Amino acid sequence: MSHAILSALGLFGEQSGSYLGQGEWSKTTDAGALQPVNPATGEVLGTVHASSAADYEVIVQRAQEAFKVWRTTPAPRRGEAVRLCGEALRRHKDALGSLVALEMGKIKPEGDGEVQEMIDIADFAVGQSRMMYGATMHSERPGHRMYDQYHPLGLVGIISAFNFPVAVWAWNAMLATIAGDICIWKPSPKTPLSAIATIRICNEALKAGGFPDLFFLFNDAGSDLAQAFVDDKRVALISFTGSTKVGRMVGERVAQRMGRSLLELGGNNAIILDETADLKLAIPGIVFGAVGTAGQRCTTTRRLFVHESIFDGVLDTLVKAYRQVEGKIGDPTLATTLMGPLNSAEAVQGYLAAIEKAKAAGGTVRTGGKALTERKGNFVLPTIITGLKNSHEVVQAETFAPILYVMPFKTIDEAIEMQNDVPQGLSSSIFTNNLRAAEQFLSAAGSDCGIANVNIGTSGAEIGGAFGGEKETGGGRESGSDAWKVYMRRQTNTINYSNALPLAQGIKFDL
Ligand code: UN1
Repeated sequence: MSHAILSALGLFGEQSGSYLGQGEWSKTTDAGALQPVNPATGEVLGTVHASSAADYEVIVQRAQEAFKVWRTTPAPRRGEAVRLCGEALRRHKDALGSLVALEMGKIKPEGDGEVQEMIDIADFAVGQSRMMYGATMHSERPGHRMYDQYHPLGLVGIISAFNFPVAVWAWNAMLATIAGDICIWKPSPKTPLSAIATIRICNEALKAGGFPDLFFLFNDAGSDLAQAFVDDKRVALISFTGSTKVGRMVGERVAQRMGRSLLELGGNNAIILDETADLKLAIPGIVFGAVGTAGQRCTTTRRLFVHESIFDGVLDTLVKAYRQVEGKIGDPTLATTLMGPLNSAEAVQGYLAAIEKAKAAGGTVRTGGKALTERKGNFVLPTIITGLKNSHEVVQAETFAPILYVMPFKTIDEAIEMQNDVPQGLSSSIFTNNLRAAEQFLSAAGSDCGIANVNIGTSGAEIGGAFGGEKETGGGRESGSDAWKVYMRRQTNTINYSNALPLAQGIKFDL
């Protein structure tokens, strides 16, 4: 199976991990290697030669050259480049979706869904390329005109995580490209093949369309190049998706050099279920949110607050639903599978450690709670834990695994307070048929997250909205709405077409 998936994209055997531009992949073989592993079997999928410092330097210099041309290319023409990438991704959706499933471990429909997100953001960016509007202002001075406009920013560095190995690149790259920027990508060391395939698909489409190099790629065997990247003044924006721990370091270092950063860090997302909730919607919403992608989305539902009057019934229904999922854990590339493995053996350790902590604190495992050690691969059972307080350390932390902490509440005020009382602020939702509760949840005194939903779970956001969160989630917004602005620099222009030089604020300066 893995052979067929890799061969379909020309990825069998050794690969170069550095796209240097001008159709050239680096020949470096002495800068270390990455060996991505199939998380469902432990099989090594291939060898990716990491980039050398010299490769990195070539990439940055060529990217700078490319920027000089691209920044003056009309934006709708830049949109055409993105349109071609979207078309190419449509053609390769099945193959790339399977590769993502194979290398990351998410199930095939989620792998395909991730490629669909790439196609969707490409479509979005094509339209946006004709709508990068600035405002016009009324000047306080006669014969003056004021407006603001958006110019390309420069080189955009994208550091992406294993859990969305291709879509997160596309959210950034498609918008950065219509903005007139050139992108350099450093993918997760766990998923380099998905990145190589993506770059090949898009670069082939650009070449066929007569476009220059817009997308560069490097892979780092350790963290030296990644650090040089973060510190590199030539890279105007670093968009980082990953843990809060690393993101904090990235944010601080980029700020040190007065660069721009866009941070998409951890989430600790909650669903509130009040006594009026429609359980036909809520139960699948919770199960998809908590178990989907084996709990490895930054939007995964990790906490559930249930009104005390329906607590026991909801818990029973959830446990039954989880047992159904248990029967469909397996090879993520098969259509019948509902839950794949965790991405790595370390993630299994993290899952087990969190469960031990929860038990030590008095928590009860209602279902799940163990790793499937009798099988190959990093499989675990989806887990529900009750009996803990929201304030407990393990509930406050993001464990990247399918563990759901279920807690009762009495009043909506109390539920919202608990939902907000964590360091992270990415996604949140309420299931209710009570208008007052819904509006309170969405109000200024409601959810403090970047995403707040009603009668929809916490995960599975559409690309059309701005995606990101507050507090330790990092504050960045990418994808839809006006997120394109972060890839551009704003300039305010005042033009005097009168015969006088009136000063602002009525100041007189007689010479
Ligand atoms: C992530 O986990 O890094 O909203 C992104 C969602 C997806 C994106 C998740 N559209 O679940």
